[in-house]
Amino acid sequence: MHIIRRLAYATGTPPAAARSEQKPKPTADPRQTDETIPVCAHWFGSWHFSVRRRAFSSNELGGVYDNEADVWDARLERLGVADAYQTLLRKLVAGDDPATGSRPMRVLDAGVGTGALSLALGHVLHRPMRVAGIDLSDRMLDQTGRHLSRAGIDHVLQRANITELPFEDGVFDIAMTAHVLEHLPDPRAALREMVRVLKPGGLLIACMTRRSSLGAYVQWKWHTHQVSPAQGKKWLRDCGLRAVRAVPFEKGTACRKMSIAFTGRRPIDNVIPTNETRKWN
Ligand SMILES: C[S@@+](CC[C@H](N)C(=O)[O-])C[C@H]1O[C@@H](n2cnc3c(N)ncnc32)[C@H](O)[C@@H]1O
Repeated sequence: MHIIRRLAYATGTPPAAARSEQKPKPTADPRQTDETIPVCAHWFGSWHFSVRRRAFSSNELGGVYDNEADVWDARLERLGVADAYQTLLRKLVAGDDPATGSRPMRVLDAGVGTGALSLALGHVLHRPMRVAGIDLSDRMLDQTGRHLSRAGIDHVLQRANITELPFEDGVFDIAMTAHVLEHLPDPRAALREMVRVLKPGGLLIACMTRRSSLGAYVQWKWHTHQVSPAQGKKWLRDCGLRAVRAVPFEKGTACRKMSIAFTGRRPIDNVIPTNETRKWN
C-alpha cells in the first residue's frame, strides 16, 4: 500500500485512499476582497459588456507597499515626480497661501507613501505647515518620517486607512492624496472621509491615474482604476465638493502621461449631501 501510494504521488495521481489523507483545500484567502474595479466597459446596442478585476484588499496593499518602500524614492526620482508635484501644487494652492499668514497650515496627506507630496508642498508654501500623514504601510511611514524631519516639516504620522480617518471633523485647511484613490473599489468612500475632516472652505487635492497607455500598465500591475476627467469630477461632486476642476500635470515624464489631478472645495455653508439629497440633485 505504501509503495503504491509513493508511486502514485511520483506520477501526480494519488489513489483514492491517499487523496482522502490530503489536507482540505483552503477556502478563499481571508485577506482578499471580492470587491472589483472596472477594467473596460462597452455598449453594443442594448448590450453592455464589461470586464472587472478583483481589487487588492487593504491588507494586501499594506504588504505590497511595505515591499516597495526601499525602492520607492529611486522610482519617483527617475520619473521626475518631485518637480511634477511642486509645479502642480504651486498652481493649486496659490490662493490658499497668503505670504503674510502666520498660523501653520494644517495639511492631511492620505496615503502619504514616502512623503513626496508633502515635501513638494513644503517647497511651495510660504506659510509653515503641520502635516498629518496616514498610510497602510509601516515601512513607507518610516521613510516619510525621516524625509519630513530632514526637511524640517512638522508632522504626525499614523498607520490608518483612508476610508476611516482618525481625525475630528473640519480640522484641515488642505486634504490631499496622490495615487491612492484608484486602488479603492469605490473612491467615494475615501473622498467622503477627506471632505469630513476638511474645514468648510478647505481645499481637496486628489491625483489619480488617468486613462492612457501608461495608465493601462499601472492598472494591469496594481489592479487600479483608470480615471477619466468626467469620472473624477463626478466622484468629487458626489461627495459634496464645489468648484471642482480637473487639472493636467505639466511636468514629470510619468505624471504628464499617466496622472491627472482633481480639486474641489468643501462648501462654506457646510452642507454635504447625504444619499437622500443626492438622489434629487
Ligand atoms: C502609489 S503610492 C503613492 C504614495 C505617495 N502618495 C506618492 O505620491 O508618492 C500609494 C500609497 O498609498 C497607500 N495606500 C493604499 N491604499 C491605502 C488606503 N486604503 N489607506 C491608506 N493608504 C493607502 C500605500 O500604502 C502607498 O504608500
